[in-house]
Amino acid sequence: MNITPFHQRRLSLLARMSEAGGGLAVIPTAPERVRNRDTTYPYRADSYFHYLTGFPEPEAVLVLIAGRGNDGRQSILFCRDKDVDKEIWDGFRHGPDAARETFGCDAAHSIKEFDSKLAELLADQPALWFSIGHDATWDARITAALNAVRAQARVGHRAPALIHDVRAALDEMRLIKDPHEIALLQKSAAIACTAHRRAMRCAAPGQYEYTVEAEFLHEFRRQGSQYPAYAPIVAGGANACVLHYIDNNRELRDGELLLIDAGCEVDGYASDITRTFPVNGRFSGPQADVYALVQDAQTAAIAAIKPGATFHDPHDAAVRVLVQGMLDLKLLEGSVAGVIESGAFKRFYMHRTSHWLGLDVHDAGAYKDGPGDQAWRSLAPGMTLTVEPGCYIRPADDVPVAFHNIGVRIEDDVLVTQNGCEILTADAPKTIAAIEELMRK
Ligand code: GLY
Ligand code: MN
Ligand code: MN
Repeated sequence: MNITPFHQRRLSLLARMSEAGGGLAVIPTAPERVRNRDTTYPYRADSYFHYLTGFPEPEAVLVLIAGRGNDGRQSILFCRDKDVDKEIWDGFRHGPDAARETFGCDAAHSIKEFDSKLAELLADQPALWFSIGHDATWDARITAALNAVRAQARVGHRAPALIHDVRAALDEMRLIKDPHEIALLQKSAAIACTAHRRAMRCAAPGQYEYTVEAEFLHEFRRQGSQYPAYAPIVAGGANACVLHYIDNNRELRDGELLLIDAGCEVDGYASDITRTFPVNGRFSGPQADVYALVQDAQTAAIAAIKPGATFHDPHDAAVRVLVQGMLDLKLLEGSVAGVIESGAFKRFYMHRTSHWLGLDVHDAGAYKDGPGDQAWRSLAPGMTLTVEPGCYIRPADDVPVAFHNIGVRIEDDVLVTQNGCEILTADAPKTIAAIEELMRK
């Protein structure tokens, strides 16, 4: 394992803490969660903890101490002890000594010592950095440590006078991906593209949504992805108009579209791809009309992604194209400006065009620098985001019947570069011609 990127990120967070007056940060990993009786969900580390450590075991906490200047900076890992008996049942545990060595921290201790050591370490620190409100159990644990320090007031110790939400600093860091992260995002995207191609080859009338879902799970695991990045949406026909449809249990029918939103996770990093294609391999006229419209909207959105543009610009570009198309297809009446102003287009396009992508599929990072419509964040090299316009047409008396139940979304993952952007998911077929050609084979 290459520990350098994790070490660099810890130093970077420590530098940010020092700039803001120093203090001590507590970053716990995620707890294991029971699924039923004595069976747990597959374990996944907390994204912030993973970002700073790469340490994979549950029951672990990172403590960072900013110290004064470069002196006294420390990263301390608390983790489970070695336990030969438990390791026979559940597998390897590093234990503090090996964890310190392998993950490059200054010190490591048993998690059993965490509460008492935290109270010692917190004494006389100017500030505590912690994700307040994320987890009630952790809030209580931190409160207990603060109160233990306060109880020492008469022997001259002071509790931190300031509490910062450490996520604000980490979110800013996570917004710009480092080369290690970009490589993992590229790998995640490449695997998901192969899986989408595979789905296009296997889908056919008479298959079920879940048989197509199974192709994704197989391809993800076959190529070393640990998990899907989110529950795959495999939505045939009218199900495509249910944005978060995950039942995936209906038969696929001739003449319908199939919308698939599926991506995988590679060493924590997500891909998030949507493709929409005809179950029988040939777009009908109305399906092609809506598909081409969404593709044009996506092309316009991607063209708007470059350093200096704002996060809102791709959405704005996509909405303009979509609204013109909705007027042309007689889904709506009026003018482009009027429909944008009234928001009438939201009946067919009710979500936004992009979100940040990274360790979390809807990744960390503020979308605005402040309040108001002008505060949308500027795009910068190293940011990664999705571009996912759609058009979802539910049956209604005032909607041409030919379009009823057509739902289309096209979603790609994009890296902002020095001059524009790079599409990480370009290998998943997208044009009508490319999709029909692949499905013919
Ligand atoms: N797959 C979730 C999303 O597209 O945002
Ligand atoms: Mn998606
Ligand atoms: Mn998405």
